[in-house]
Amino acid sequence: RRVAVVFGGRSSEHAISCVTAAGVLRALDRERWDVVPVGIAPDGRWVLAADDPGRWELHDGVLPAVDAAEGPAVLAPRSPVERGLVAVGAGDVPRALGEVDVVLPLLHGPYGEDGTLQGLLEMSDTRYVGSGVLASALAMDKHYAKTVLQAAGVDVGPWVLVTDRTWRTAREERLDAGLALAGATGADAVFVKPSRAGSSMGVSRVVVRQDGQDRPGAREALAAAVEAAREHDPKVLVEVGVRGRELECGVLDRLAGGPPQASAVGEVAVVDGRDFYDFEAKYLDAAAVRLTCPADVPDGVADAVRATALRAFEALGCEGLARVDVFAGEDGRVVVNEVNTMPGFTPSSMFPRLWAASGLDYPALVERLLALALE
Ligand code: DAL
Ligand code: MG
Repeated sequence: RRVAVVFGGRSSEHAISCVTAAGVLRALDRERWDVVPVGIAPDGRWVLAADDPGRWELHDGVLPAVDAAEGPAVLAPRSPVERGLVAVGAGDVPRALGEVDVVLPLLHGPYGEDGTLQGLLEMSDTRYVGSGVLASALAMDKHYAKTVLQAAGVDVGPWVLVTDRTWRTAREERLDAGLALAGATGADAVFVKPSRAGSSMGVSRVVVRQDGQDRPGAREALAAAVEAAREHDPKVLVEVGVRGRELECGVLDRLAGGPPQASAVGEVAVVDGRDFYDFEAKYLDAAAVRLTCPADVPDGVADAVRATALRAFEALGCEGLARVDVFAGEDGRVVVNEVNTMPGFTPSSMFPRLWAASGLDYPALVERLLALALE
C-alpha cells in the first residue's frame, strides 16, 4: 500500500507540521507502507520531499521548512484553472497522488486542517485520514466551532466576534463589546485570537483590570491585540479566560463503525511566569510548560472531560481523530476551548501521549488512522 504523507503547508504552523511529519515518517512500518512524502512549501508549491525524518525535526530550536527548490514538483498548479484540473484529477501532476491508496494530511492550520485540502481530495476521489470538509472547516474557525458546539449544548466560553467589516466600520463599538465582556464576567484579562489559526499564533492576553480597577490603556492594548491577531486572520475573537485547569483529551474513531473512543486526559500547566500556553512554550521552551498525562485529576473530572470531548467530536461531525481542549472549573464545569482535527503529532505532543497512556503507542496510532481511512 502507498501512503502520501502531506506536510508543511501555507499556514503559520508550517514548521510544526514538518515536525509532526518527522515523527510519522519515523513510525510508519516500511514493510507495510510505501511512503510518498509530499511537502507543501510556504508559498504553496507541492514537492516530493526528503524521506528523512531528521530533515524535518527541530534541531536546536531551528524550525524546519519545506523548500520547494529541494525536491521535484509533484503538484504545482500555478493558476486557478490548473488547480481545478488537479482537483478533478485531470492534470499531469495529480497522478502522483492518484496512485496512492491513502493520504495522511499532517497539515495544521488553514489550507490543510480547514477543509480546503479535504475538498481537493474529495474531488479527486482520494481516501484520506481525518475529518471531512465541513468538520475540518468548522473546527478550524473558532467562531463557528463555538456557535455549533453551543447549539449542541456543549459549554463554551463567551466571546465577541470582530470581523474585518466590523473592525473597519464599527471599531469602537467592537472594543466596547470586548471590554464589556470582561466586565460582565468579572475577568481581569481577555484573550484575543485569530478565528482561524493554531499553535497560539497571533494570540495575546490583554489585562483589562488591575486591583479591581479598569486598567488605564486597556482599550488601546485591546486594539493593538486585535491588530496583531488580524495579521493571521481578518476574523478575530475576544474571549475571557476561563478559570480552571487546562485539560486535553484525544478522540479516535473505532474500526468497523463503532462509537468513537476518548483517551486518557492530560493537563497543560504553564510554569515560569508565562502568561499562557503560547507558541514558544508549545515548541521552543521545554521548561516553560509541563504536560502531565494522565492528569492528576479526580476520576469524576476525567470522566466529565471525556464525555465532553466525545460530544464535541460528534457535534462538529469529526471523523478519524481530534484533540479536544477544555478548561475544567472547580465547580465541575467543563468548557470546551477548541477542537483540533489534526492535533500536533510529534512524538512528544499531547495527542500521541494521551493515546500511549490509553494503551496505543505511536506506531499503532498511525496504523489505526490509516486503517480507518481505508475502511
Ligand atoms: N494546532 C496545534 C498543532 C495543535 O493543536 O496541536
Ligand atoms: Mg489549535
